[in-house]
Amino acid sequence: MIMDKSIEVVVLLLSFLSIAAFNFILCSGDPKVVCIERERQALLSFKKGLTDPSNRLSSWAGDEDCCTWTGVGCNNITGHVVELNLGNPYSDSYDSGESEAYVRSKLGGDINPSLLELKHLNYLDLSLNDFGGTPIPDFFGLLRGLRYLNLTKAGFSGRIPHQLGNLSSLRYLSLTKDFDLYVDDLGWLSHLSSLKYLDMSGIDLHKSVDWLQVVNMLPSLSELHLSYCRLYNFPQSLGYVNFTSLAVLDLSQNLFNYTIPNWLFNLSHSLLHLDLSYNFLQGQISDAIGNLKSLQFLDLSQNLYIEGRIPSNIWNLCNLHVLDLSLNNFSREIGSVGNLSGCIGKSLESLDLSSNQLTGHIPIWLGHLQYLKHLNLHSNSLYGSIPSSLGNISSLIDFKLSYNQLNGTLPESLWQLSHLEVLEIGSNFLGGIITDTHFTKLSKLKTLDMSLNSFVFKVNSNWIPPFQLVYIGMGSCILGPRFPSWIRMQSSLFYLDFSEARISDTVPSWFWLLASHISDINLSNNQIHGEISNIMLKSQTIDLSSNFFKGRLPHLSPNVTVLRLSKNSISGPLSSLLCEKMNEQKNLEILDLSENLLSGELPQCLMYWQSLTLLDLGSNNLFGKIPSSVGSLTFLTSLHLRNNSFFGDLPPSLQNCTYLEFIDLGENKLSGNIPIWIGEKITNLKALRLRSNIFNGNIPLQICHLTSLLVLDLANNLLSGAIPHCLDNISMMATRQILDHDPFDHSYGYGDYEENLILITKGRESEYKRILRFVRSIDLSSNNLSGVIPSEISSLSTFNFLNLSHNHLEGKIPEKIGGMKLLESLDLSRNHLSGEIPQSMSNLTFLDHLNLSYNNFSGRIPLGTQLQSFSALSYIGNLELCGTPLLTICTKNEESGGVTPVSDNDEESEMIWFYISMGPGFVVGFWGVCGVLFFKKTWRYAYFRFLEDKIDQLYVTAVIKLAWLKRKLKNQVGG
Ligand SMILES: *[C@@H]1O[C@H](CO)[C@@H](O)[C@H](O)[C@H]1NC(C)=O
Ligand SMILES: *[C@@H]1O[C@H](CO)[C@@H](O)[C@H](O)[C@H]1NC(C)=O
Ligand SMILES: *[C@@H]1O[C@H](CO)[C@@H](O)[C@H](O)[C@H]1NC(C)=O
Repeated sequence: MIMDKSIEVVVLLLSFLSIAAFNFILCSGDPKVVCIERERQALLSFKKGLTDPSNRLSSWAGDEDCCTWTGVGCNNITGHVVELNLGNPYSDSYDSGESEAYVRSKLGGDINPSLLELKHLNYLDLSLNDFGGTPIPDFFGLLRGLRYLNLTKAGFSGRIPHQLGNLSSLRYLSLTKDFDLYVDDLGWLSHLSSLKYLDMSGIDLHKSVDWLQVVNMLPSLSELHLSYCRLYNFPQSLGYVNFTSLAVLDLSQNLFNYTIPNWLFNLSHSLLHLDLSYNFLQGQISDAIGNLKSLQFLDLSQNLYIEGRIPSNIWNLCNLHVLDLSLNNFSREIGSVGNLSGCIGKSLESLDLSSNQLTGHIPIWLGHLQYLKHLNLHSNSLYGSIPSSLGNISSLIDFKLSYNQLNGTLPESLWQLSHLEVLEIGSNFLGGIITDTHFTKLSKLKTLDMSLNSFVFKVNSNWIPPFQLVYIGMGSCILGPRFPSWIRMQSSLFYLDFSEARISDTVPSWFWLLASHISDINLSNNQIHGEISNIMLKSQTIDLSSNFFKGRLPHLSPNVTVLRLSKNSISGPLSSLLCEKMNEQKNLEILDLSENLLSGELPQCLMYWQSLTLLDLGSNNLFGKIPSSVGSLTFLTSLHLRNNSFFGDLPPSLQNCTYLEFIDLGENKLSGNIPIWIGEKITNLKALRLRSNIFNGNIPLQICHLTSLLVLDLANNLLSGAIPHCLDNISMMATRQILDHDPFDHSYGYGDYEENLILITKGRESEYKRILRFVRSIDLSSNNLSGVIPSEISSLSTFNFLNLSHNHLEGKIPEKIGGMKLLESLDLSRNHLSGEIPQSMSNLTFLDHLNLSYNNFSGRIPLGTQLQSFSALSYIGNLELCGTPLLTICTKNEESGGVTPVSDNDEESEMIWFYISMGPGFVVGFWGVCGVLFFKKTWRYAYFRFLEDKIDQLYVTAVIKLAWLKRKLKNQVGG
């Protein structure tokens, strides 16, 4: 019995134990489920093939239970390996650059097919590793159980294997690019019928014309990311839309140049997130956009060509949080919302309509968007005053209205926006007095841009602002006459613009200390005076130009990349700056010391400044030879030494500076021949200005190799011989190509244009700065050139200025001179030219300045053209020339030279005078309007391209208008 009892107890105890153990296994997530030996071996073989510099897989060793290894997940009942999570644990954030830890943690090497032993694997993440550009293994297609495959930036390249189409259980697939992965035929994708999530961003899919049909076979798809895939086919119709659960659609950064297809608007209930930004979409947005009732995020920015009205239905999308329509061509007014008690105000947090052509007033109803944090309307044509309702959006953080035509004063309510961090209202017509009390509540303000308005700042001299600004843009606000002392405590400053602020004071000594922490300083165009000889400048870019600074050149820290000190009264030698601390690393790229009182020679120290790209020492009192060390500036793109007393030959070492685009050595005493290497070596040259020196010899034919040349000014030298016939090779002059640009890259920032040249055009000296890139000019005047004007010159159809005066040229004006359609100024005076003025000159509709005086021209000045609109002085000194505007009346004899006037009708020629005067008007309008519009500081490269088209349009419009006017006048006269 006792035995029995004890057996019973043992049995009971055992069964209790086993239940406990079983429970333990089931309920406690248990380490007791050990991995399967075959799979452990497979993992070890897999590891053997890998490289693992940071030893991430150190736990993968020995007899340990492989379910406990890093990145390995097992089924908690069967013990099979189901998960391999081998993505890089560090992030690849672009902003901070790839961190060292991230790079070190990349696995690499070979992927051993032993992986196939893991028959139950359903999750495989190899993202952010570096498999060295090998192809994705075909055998991945045999991992039939996979539901999740992540190969994002894993360093694979080549064709994506079709075998992936066998992974029929796959729900998540991430295959984004780092190397060059591509797909030739996307057909395999249609077999992945369970797919919910697909990200193939950055993979070259341009061969998959049928991408959409394939994707349409995936009925469960909920997220689709095909950004930057070089897709160009965006079918406008799609019979039946299969992916009715699509919630996220990202097709940004492709090459679509269609209108937005209507089938998208059928995804009315599912779509939450739609990103079509950075394409070339065009046309209007359909009102059907209002169907997308669930939409939370809509980004159509940077398409450039989407146009028309913003459909008012967009404001009825109740769930929209983010709306970005920036950088398009939307015009007209922002529009009205039907019913404000509707939903728009309920959810919108970010609204960006910047860089469009919107006009009209800022609608008052915007003030009802009570959750708005980011409001960006910059770079439009909005006018009127800023509605005070905007001050009600108490959650506002960003407020950007720069580059519009807003006027009036700022509404008081604006100063109540206590969350404001960014206030950008620069480049408008706003004004009024701003005092320190306005800023009382803006303690979070970081960016303040009020520049290019008419604000007057009247703040207490001991005001301590409640904010710590990072960015101050107050160019052309009236801040002076005292130097603003309130910035003294702004210790986080990164950018400071006090240009044109009517400051006429000395710089307080604390400023230079503060300045050493500011990256970008602009104090130009004030009347700031004082010595800067002993100052150490540390900022990255410094513009102190157009002030009254005096003394010797300041000292520079290696930090400085841009120094502009032009138009001051700085004296002394260059050597104090250029030959100082020669073993220190220099990073200076732009040095502009023009228009000062610097004297002495250009020292042989330029080899210490190899990062220089622009060197402007023009208009000083420098003399001597140009030192050979200039040849060590191999990155130099601009060399300006004009208006000094340099003499001697050009140093042959200059031919090392093969990136040079602008050479201005005018107004010196340089001599010798124009070296042939200029044409052979410096092939990027855009402007060559050697005016007013004593160069002699011929113009070398090699000049014609300079196919990018825009400006050739060799005037006022002792050059002789003929004008080269090959000038028509200068193809930049022959085509109006302005910039090369990769349509695939929208990201490239354009920045400010740096160049300037003084050109003598239309008989007067003008400084060409921002519009310089549109100028085409040849000036060979005041030399001893002889021979004829080469007829090839007339094929230079795009240039604006031609001056060949004061030479010994003979023969006729080329018959086809009218081919130079954009000519604005033509000076052939004081030569020995003869014959008749060619009729084709009447094609020169933009001609605004003409001088043919003192030649031997004969015959009648062609009638019925604008050639009559110039004064007689344009023709004086040609004894055999006759007709209006000269007083000499033509005899029959003189008229018989083949000149066939359009009409002799006096009335018509009167009328024609009228339209002729339109010509110059258009030109002025063109340079004026476009010059300003074009160079708005913030505009990016991509926008540039868009405007370029506009410019073409403008030309065309101008020409059409002229033609239309001509016809109209003719009809009037006729009828
Ligand atoms: C076991 O795995 C399943 C799914 O794989 C999971 O839902 C469950 O929570 C796991 N149980 C324990 C105890 O970890
Ligand atoms: C794939 O991995 C990347 C990088 O770790 C991650 O950002 C992404 O969200 C992953 N994809 C999925 C579907 O989880
Ligand atoms: C919709 O998806 C199903 C299942 O993948 C497929 O058979 C059908 O052809 C698809 N329809 C269209 C129009 O692509």
